[in-house]
Amino acid sequence: MNVRIRMLFLAMVCFCVLTSAAIGEEKKFVIGFSQATTTEPWRLLFNKELREEAEKHPEIKLIVRDGMDNAATQIADVEAFIQMKADAILISPKVAAELTPVVNKAYDAGIPVFVLDRDLTNDRYTQFIGGDNKLIGRAAGEYAVNFLGGSGKAKGNVVEIRGGKAATPAQDRYAGFHEAIDKEPGIKMVTQPNDGDWKQDKGYELMAEALDANEKIDLVYAHNDPMAYGAYMAAKDVGREKGVAFLGIDGIPAEGVKWVHQGILTATFLYKTPGNEGVRQALKLLKGGTVEKRVTLPTMTIDKSNAEKIMRDNGLIK
Ligand code: FRU
Repeated sequence: MNVRIRMLFLAMVCFCVLTSAAIGEEKKFVIGFSQATTTEPWRLLFNKELREEAEKHPEIKLIVRDGMDNAATQIADVEAFIQMKADAILISPKVAAELTPVVNKAYDAGIPVFVLDRDLTNDRYTQFIGGDNKLIGRAAGEYAVNFLGGSGKAKGNVVEIRGGKAATPAQDRYAGFHEAIDKEPGIKMVTQPNDGDWKQDKGYELMAEALDANEKIDLVYAHNDPMAYGAYMAAKDVGREKGVAFLGIDGIPAEGVKWVHQGILTATFLYKTPGNEGVRQALKLLKGGTVEKRVTLPTMTIDKSNAEKIMRDNGLIK
């Protein structure tokens, strides 16, 4: 009798442990995030903000995969999320065309997909979250026009270092910039279409070529801060950095803002990471809410007028 009661008690304990574990598991939303790469500080901040947001919600089980700058790897990562029947997929695609079919496949399979920062070639996904790259490009173009003498009078030789041309931000940052500068007859673009793939060393190489080919360069517009910094280094290495304006994009405090504060970059334009917003939006949907098709993140111009304050606000200087 005694033994039977003990066994019954044991069975009840096991049952309770198992069912609560099962309930606990059941309640977790599995969110898979496919990141394009982790080679730039902006991507690391993106992952950090995404993880921090997910940690605030114990009901989320977050799985992060790094596509390592390779579209095929990223396709396999999304396929794996489809296989495991993730509750939602977040993706920041390395390139648009190659990643579109797998995202469409996930979406058609009924998995909500949130596309972050870089867009695809169609909108068969749940939501896009990112900055307005055309607006950012235009802001950079207007800044360049002002720097080179103002509307109608601007004059100078300009180098443009583009991001990865198969990625939508590079296309939009190009288009926005040219909307502002192409109407200035005094501005001369001295570079051919190029592809810096967002990388500092490519920025350096492309600028070194531009310096070799042109006696005078007045302004460099790079599609992100690492490439703008690389371009600056190339100019500095041949003693030609003085008097050249370097414009970048991203404006993360420990990188672009710091370089503006140090006088290396003239200006950068904030490109917020969609990390925390991505998790928030996915959770909203998973909890039964509705989400908009597009969420546009704000931007701002960062130059010597506000860089110091941003550095201080972020505890980077006293
Ligand atoms: C990082 C990055 C950023 C840039 C963004 C564009 O991989 O190159 O510097 O703003 O991607 O998608």
